[in-house]
Amino acid sequence: MSETNIVQKKPYVMEMEPGEYWWCQCGLSAEQPFCDGSHKGTDFAPVKAGIAEKKTVAWCGCKRTGKPPFCDGTHSSL
Ligand code: FES
Repeated sequence: MSETNIVQKKPYVMEMEPGEYWWCQCGLSAEQPFCDGSHKGTDFAPVKAGIAEKKTVAWCGCKRTGKPPFCDGTHSSL
């Protein structure tokens, strides 16, 4: 597997509590947009994100963002 799996061509917009999160990069997790360990055996690893304060986050759902783990608009060109 050399390319990430496109889960959806739009971000997961979520209200997040402060904490550490692991964003799924491979696109195989059943618990999107977060890692469930499904990347094992692929070339990909989850990306850690620290959220310092409660806020709305746009997690990339297409897995092709240039600014992981956040949406940077790349999905609109897929
Ligand atoms: S959902 Fe991936 S760049 Fe927007």
